[in-house]
Formats: sequence, C-alpha cells, structure tokens
Amino acid sequence: MTKQNSLPLWKSRPRKARGRPLMFGTRGPGSLYRRIKSLGLLATRDRAALLNFLCAEYAEPFSVVERIELVARFVAVTNAIRCFHTQAEMLVVADALLRLGRRAGLTVVEAGVAKGASSAKLSLLVSRLGGTLHLFDSFRGIPENSERLTRLDGSEVVFFKGAFTGRIPTVTRHLQRFGCPRCCVLHKGLFEETMPRFDAGPIDLMLLDVDLLSSTRACLVHLFPKLRVGGVVFSQDGHLREIVDLIASERFWREEVGVAVPRIEGLGERKFIRITRES
Ligand SMILES: C[S@@+](CC[C@H](N)C(=O)[O-])C[C@H]1O[C@@H](n2cnc3c(N)ncnc32)[C@H](O)[C@@H]1O
Repeated sequence: MTKQNSLPLWKSRPRKARGRPLMFGTRGPGSLYRRIKSLGLLATRDRAALLNFLCAEYAEPFSVVERIELVARFVAVTNAIRCFHTQAEMLVVADALLRLGRRAGLTVVEAGVAKGASSAKLSLLVSRLGGTLHLFDSFRGIPENSERLTRLDGSEVVFFKGAFTGRIPTVTRHLQRFGCPRCCVLHKGLFEETMPRFDAGPIDLMLLDVDLLSSTRACLVHLFPKLRVGGVVFSQDGHLREIVDLIASERFWREEVGVAVPRIEGLGERKFIRITRES
C-alpha cells in the first residue's frame, strides 16, 4: 500500500537474494566496489546537485527525510543495475519535477530506457506526484544505423546495433524491485513508429538519452510540440557535436518541429542540456 503523499514502499529483497554475498573483486552491479564508488561520487562529482536538492524549496511538501530516502533509493538502483547516467543528472530532473509539482494529469516521458535504471528512479517521483511515466524504447537496444558521430572533444563514436539492450521482462523486474511500475506505460518499438501515435499529454517533462542524431530528431519532432508551455526537456546527449548542431539550428525548430526556438541551456558546454518551451 502506498500513501498518496509518500514515496512508494521500498520492497524488501527477494528471499533467495537475501543471503547472497557481496561480489568482491568485480566492479559491476552488486559489487562492493560499486557501492563504495557510488557513495564516493555522490560526495564529490554529484555533491552540488545533491546539496541543491536537499536544500531547495518546493511548493509540494517534500521533507528532508523523504529527500534523503529518495537519494538512498537512487543509490540502491545505481548499485544494482547498469546505469548510463550520473546521480547529479537524475537529481536535476528530480528538482525540475518537484518544481513543476503535483498537477492534474502530470505526464512525464523518458526516451531511452536501457535496463530501466533511470526509469526506476523517475517512477518513484512521478508516482509520488500522482503522474504517469511513459517509457519509450525499442527494448532491443540501439537500432540499425550508419551514424558516425563526433564528441565535442573531436573523438569519433559509433553506437552499434543492440547496444544498451534491456528487454521488457528485465525492465519490468527492475521497476518492480526498485521503482513503481503502476505509474509506468511502456511504448515498445522504434521512436519513429511509436511517438507519432502518442496521444496522452500534454507532456510536462521529457528526459532523452538516445545517443543517435536520428533518434534525437524523432523525439523532438514528434513530442516537443506536445510539451506544455513551461515544460522542460533534458537531453543527456549534449556531448555529441551533431546533436548540438541540430538543437542549435533555428531552422530545425521552426520548420521541422514547428515551434518558436525554445530556451536552451548548457548547449556546447556540457553533456546534460536543458530545453524549456517558452511559447
Ligand atoms: C544510453 S541508453 C539509455 C540509458 C538509460 N536512460 C539509463 O540512464 O540507464 C539508449 C537507449 O535508447 C534506445 N534507442 C535509441 N534510439 C532508439 C530508437 N530510434 N527507437 C527506440 N529506441 C531507441 C536504445 O534501445 C537504448 O535503450
């Protein structure tokens, strides 16, 4: 049972996993190394975002105890599931969501789910705010593509077909164990096919972590027009030159997306970009 104004209950570990020893000598999910490392990163790399989150004032009552519980649950996800984001990124998204606050029909979209780590974290907050989280992914990993992308430092990167695969049973298990599956709707398939059919909304917040230029284009063309004024999009792909160029293009916003150029923060400076719809 979940109280309406509290985080979903933290489920106890499945009986058969309870006695499982920590993995020593490895660095992956479940290892002692990972547990120590994630606390270390929280205290160093992610500290500014953590302090901001703990001290911010929100319209929605969200006590310091509840904030600490949320952070602990984010850390538990990071320790157990292969993640492709930083804790700071998720705390910035949490902050933006709490600033939007509880509102009728709160609609949040995540494009790029992988194993469901970021989705589990997001679902805790979306559930707490009484909203719905729409998760878009092929659930087969990166689709076939011929893109050769360039990082801002000039190095090349290729995202191979099948990379970051997280199948639906795996993602569902992770949502059940660490998040709140009840507030989630899964949209399986290529963005180019699933997003034009999306008719929920208006969207309040979107998180994009999709790696490809074509995928970023599909997300923005199909979903940005459905974002409400004041709504926010975060992209975790701002380290890729081609994606930076697309988002910087006035022509792209006006002709392909069909909206006025939004407010864009962090473009060309950092990996995590924030785009706010202003009109
Ligand atoms: C880097 S991973 C997402 C990582 C996840 N957000 C996390 O932090 O753990 C990128 C995801 O985008 C998905 N993806 C990329 N392009 C896609 C497309 N055109 N259609 C459907 N899924 C796509 C891949 O399947 C993959 O799961």
